[in-house]
Amino acid sequence: MRKQIVAGNWKMNNDIKETKKLIKDIKKGIKKIKLKGTRVLVSPTFVNLTAAKDKVKGSKIEVVAQNMHQAKSGAFTGEISASMLKAIKVKSVILGHSERRTYFGETDAILKEKVNTALANKMEIIFCFGELLADRKNNNHFSIVESQLKNALFHLEASAWKKIVLAYEPVWAIGTGETATPVQAQEMHAFIRNLLVDKYGNDVAENTSILYGGSVKPANAKEIFANPDVDGGLIGGAALNATDFVALIQSF
Ligand code: 13P
Repeated sequence: MRKQIVAGNWKMNNDIKETKKLIKDIKKGIKKIKLKGTRVLVSPTFVNLTAAKDKVKGSKIEVVAQNMHQAKSGAFTGEISASMLKAIKVKSVILGHSERRTYFGETDAILKEKVNTALANKMEIIFCFGELLADRKNNNHFSIVESQLKNALFHLEASAWKKIVLAYEPVWAIGTGETATPVQAQEMHAFIRNLLVDKYGNDVAENTSILYGGSVKPANAKEIFANPDVDGGLIGGAALNATDFVALIQSF
């Protein structure tokens, strides 16, 4: 059975003090609620991963990296490898976020390499993808999403999908306050699940969590998460506030 997941992508926010405080507050908040099997993930910036790992001890919160390089090691100034993450016991990584694609030139081909490297290191991947506003206006959103998935993930064996979580994040909804409607989210998530059925069969399709990301807030989460093919959210802005984040966890 696929899991429900609420993941906070903190992006380039929170210094070490703020990181510790936010985790402390989320910990306090989730103590008071029933998680009902929902996974809770937070993704601080690289320099704060170790402190975050330490701070989540004694709770169900998992710590996830926001990115990693595809190479094993070497002359890649400013980059972080899979083995460095593993050495501090970070076992999951976000790959393919639209901000990485847009501002750092990450292509489907690069992401395919990153996916392979992460899997070779037995890491779980939260794989992000989604169309631009222009794609949606031109009615190309389904074909764009299909090609993003095919180019970076569909070379994998079915068994590799145990380590993949998908995060559909329409770029026009990220940080804009504009959310996909519940109907738009369900329509795309069902389309994605059907792609998995066609390529890998029902087992993989039914067991892969597909998250929605893009301006999810406590006020709109319930109706988005209520869709049968939406298994949770990848949250930006609202994940920076413990009260909002805990409210999102309670939105299933
Ligand atoms: P917002 O929730 O701020 O729109 O960000 C979504 C996102 O990019 C999560 O990865």
